[in-house]
Amino acid sequence: MAKTTFEEISAADFFYRNRDIAGFTNPSRAIFAAVRELVENSLDAAESLRMPPNIYVRLSYEGEAGKETQIYRLRVEDNGIGVPPRHIPSAFGQVLFGSKYKLKQQRGTFGLGGKMAILYGQITTHKPACIISSTGASKIYRCRLMIDIQRNRPLILDRKVLINKERWRGTIVEFCLEGDYFRAMPKILEYFKQTAMVNPYANLTFVDPRGRLYKFTRVTKEMPDPPRETLPHPYGVDVELLQRLIQVTPYRNMLEFLRYHFHRVGEITARKFLEFSNISPSKNPKKLSHEEIVRLMHMLKKFGEFLPPDASCLSPLGEELLKAGVLKELKPEFVAVHQRKPSTYAGHPFIVEVGIAYGGEIPKKGNFLIYRFANRIPLLYDEASDVSVRVVNSMNWRRYKVMPDMPTAILVHICSTKVPYKTVGKEFIADRPEVRREIANGLREVARRLQRFLTRREHVDRERKRLGVFSKYLPKIAQFSAQLAGKEKLPDVKKLLRSVKKFGAKET
Ligand SMILES: Nc1ncnc2c1ncn2[C@@H]1O[C@H](COP(=O)(O)OP(=O)(O)OP(=O)(O)O)[C@@H](O)[C@H]1O
Ligand SMILES: [Mg+2]
Repeated sequence: MAKTTFEEISAADFFYRNRDIAGFTNPSRAIFAAVRELVENSLDAAESLRMPPNIYVRLSYEGEAGKETQIYRLRVEDNGIGVPPRHIPSAFGQVLFGSKYKLKQQRGTFGLGGKMAILYGQITTHKPACIISSTGASKIYRCRLMIDIQRNRPLILDRKVLINKERWRGTIVEFCLEGDYFRAMPKILEYFKQTAMVNPYANLTFVDPRGRLYKFTRVTKEMPDPPRETLPHPYGVDVELLQRLIQVTPYRNMLEFLRYHFHRVGEITARKFLEFSNISPSKNPKKLSHEEIVRLMHMLKKFGEFLPPDASCLSPLGEELLKAGVLKELKPEFVAVHQRKPSTYAGHPFIVEVGIAYGGEIPKKGNFLIYRFANRIPLLYDEASDVSVRVVNSMNWRRYKVMPDMPTAILVHICSTKVPYKTVGKEFIADRPEVRREIANGLREVARRLQRFLTRREHVDRERKRLGVFSKYLPKIAQFSAQLAGKEKLPDVKKLLRSVKKFGAKET
């Protein structure tokens, strides 16, 4: 009889075996994902300090690898917050380790992205990664490391401490990986362009393996207000979370426990809730039995009077910055942007921002150009499965006199403390009814504004044509009629033309 053997694998081993779910599917996708993960980390690092990001990315050719693949060296430098020296090895060498498991909007969520890039580099080239970082204090730390995949631990090869005379602050990550840059190139360049669009306050520089320099310069130093960390909302809690809170709480009664551990629960609401659920305000939360905890969770979800989450933990781009980004990268003739009010799904707050741009340098493609963003990250793959694309495709655009063959670009930006991504590769967003509704309402608003612009422009065009006809024929009519009447002096048609023009201008 065959014997079943059981074994345990580490988190790093799991992602090594299943790298497709993190976006590292093939050499072309992998090189794109590596650039993207490191740029995202750098943007987060600069924004957490409220510094306009300066990010330098260089991909250089190192040698041939497979039939269609090459070895590249990737280097990403930023002016971000830097990593404290004791955390450098784990932040870059231990899967599911990070500083972003917080209830506030950030690009990073899983504690995985940077490590996946380094892990992919390691398994394709067997070379270590080099991390240089400083928080701006008197020292710079350099660490060369590999990942012990089976144990999910960083393997430190060497460490060096350098004097930071110039008080440099930031992080440099450098490693080699196998990839197919030429296949990935369009996506990588598109990624930079779209990143510049939703981060118009960032300077991005990219040097590609052919030595070509791509520069995306900031148009503003203005940055969106930073998000504030928040507490869990009572509608979103489960038994595990309640147990964790009970374990750590310093409060000895239910009234304070509810007030200080949950988002938007004040004293009055807490008292009302305790009355509703028949729990004594003075009960010690640590004395709750398992059954009582389960009942507490159900009652929290049932109570209808909790206020919805507020949006202080979110940091949407704002209409002005979104507009500036679109004008900078797409150079359209017309743009309309709209930010929806905060909303929630499953207790998680989110805000949808949308934009529509028309004409100018936007190409006619026969189909709308759809730009999708989540927490200021462009999403470039798996478009068909994304909620935004589904909403765009299901809308009745004819109603707004907007046709897919017009040079039109549509932008949808979703920001949330928990973006409902379908994969850890952050490629597309799940079709949640609450999110879908917000996107649809936002798009209707900007579509109406585009419709108004197009109608007005049509009218102006018609008027211009009419005036063209008048100014062409009126002088001739004047000449003939003067001849016929046997008069020498021609009537003054300029006055007449002016009055027609005035009338036209008033109407538009
Ligand atoms: N350039 C950087 N500057 C400062 N800290 C960084 C930088 N890159 C990574 N880190 C730190 O390392 C941690 C791990 O990064 P990693 O990309 O692996 O995960 P994450 O960004 O937290 O989540 P995600 O998997 O969604 O990217 C981060 O949480 C951050 O604390
Ligand atoms: Mg990350």
